[in-house]
Amino acid sequence: MSEHNGFAVRVANVQHYFGEGELEKQVLFDNYLEVARGEIVIMTGPSGSGKTTLLTLIGTLRTVREGSLKVLGRELRGASPGELIALRRELGFIFQTHNLFESLTARQNVKMALELFSTEGRRNDDRSVEMLTRLGLEHRINYKPGSLSGGQKQRVAITRGLAHKPKLVLADEPTAALDEKSGREVVTLFQELVKTDNCTIIMVTHDNRILDVADRIVNLVDGRIRSNVLVKESAMICEFLQACPVFGRLTPKTFGETADRMTLERFPAGAVVTRQGDPGDKFYVVRLGRVDIMVDSGSGRKLVATLGKGDFFGEAALLTGEPRNATVVAKEDLEVYSLGNEDFQAVIRASATFEEELRKALFARQ
Ligand SMILES: Nc1ncnc2c1ncn2[C@@H]1O[C@H](COP(=O)(O)OP(=O)(O)OP(=O)(O)O)[C@@H](O)[C@H]1O
Ligand SMILES: [Mg+2]
Repeated sequence: MSEHNGFAVRVANVQHYFGEGELEKQVLFDNYLEVARGEIVIMTGPSGSGKTTLLTLIGTLRTVREGSLKVLGRELRGASPGELIALRRELGFIFQTHNLFESLTARQNVKMALELFSTEGRRNDDRSVEMLTRLGLEHRINYKPGSLSGGQKQRVAITRGLAHKPKLVLADEPTAALDEKSGREVVTLFQELVKTDNCTIIMVTHDNRILDVADRIVNLVDGRIRSNVLVKESAMICEFLQACPVFGRLTPKTFGETADRMTLERFPAGAVVTRQGDPGDKFYVVRLGRVDIMVDSGSGRKLVATLGKGDFFGEAALLTGEPRNATVVAKEDLEVYSLGNEDFQAVIRASATFEEELRKALFARQ
């Protein structure tokens, strides 16, 4: 069952402390995070913000003391040592310090890691060579770490972390010691693993040259997840909003902040999106489908407008503080981006032209 729940990692209300008694110091606070299978997650944040701590908790290398942490469907809090060992076989680790065995060659280092999983020596050897070759180390497979550059050692460590086809890869600054080209090769390999093995990857990085591979970017500050953004969705919102005249004159900063705060909502045909007389709580932009704007009066209900893609509604009540002046009904299956009242007011404060644009567009519609 848990194998099919779609989440590779689910962190709920996790707190973490170092030290005991008077020296106890909390370093993670109330964190929630859901990572779907097959996602590539990039974790960023200042030094000391708790990235490695969170990663090692997920990787079962530290004990979860408070909250719930599920990895590949298994709860870590209170798990037995046997359960943790079984789970660790499905994880791949790539850490900042590469810990290679100095007396073994690159190929032997990788092979030794594979032997923890299988005793088929020949196959392990083939796989080691294949993986090292994929990372551009074919001419270095028989070198010991002492004769390899920092970047080459890092690539051996990466190979070692990935060779047994883990379901979840936890990588701490995997590309830090690499030049741009090798760094790109590593993340390309990550993307291939996600496609071929439905692997999930959580990687800590300060390397903004590779942010584009992320499906989700999680930003940690002072032990708290400050933002957690699904990149594709946010790119989609931006692209869409850019084409809406009402947003056209926002500064890039305000525009980005607004897009970040909008959420996609779906309504089936016939559903009521806002009801006349209700308090105004959100502003809407139509992404797909059409809506009918209807006004009830003593003489019955009157259709005043039909809006479609790129049109907005719901602003009047937010601007005036009065109840909704119309009922909006989905004419067909509908997708809208909504912005909560508080965020809407923040955009108005940040941009004098926004309100002006709203009123101009409203006027043109009538
Ligand atoms: N073993 C430990 N014992 C006590 N405190 C620790 C320990 N490991 C980390 N800390 C503290 O916990 C906090 C979070 O550290 P962590 O290593 O998770 O940060 P980080 O975000 O990975 O930083 P960096 O980007 O520098 O790697 C820091 O204040 C750090 O000093
Ligand atoms: Mg760290």
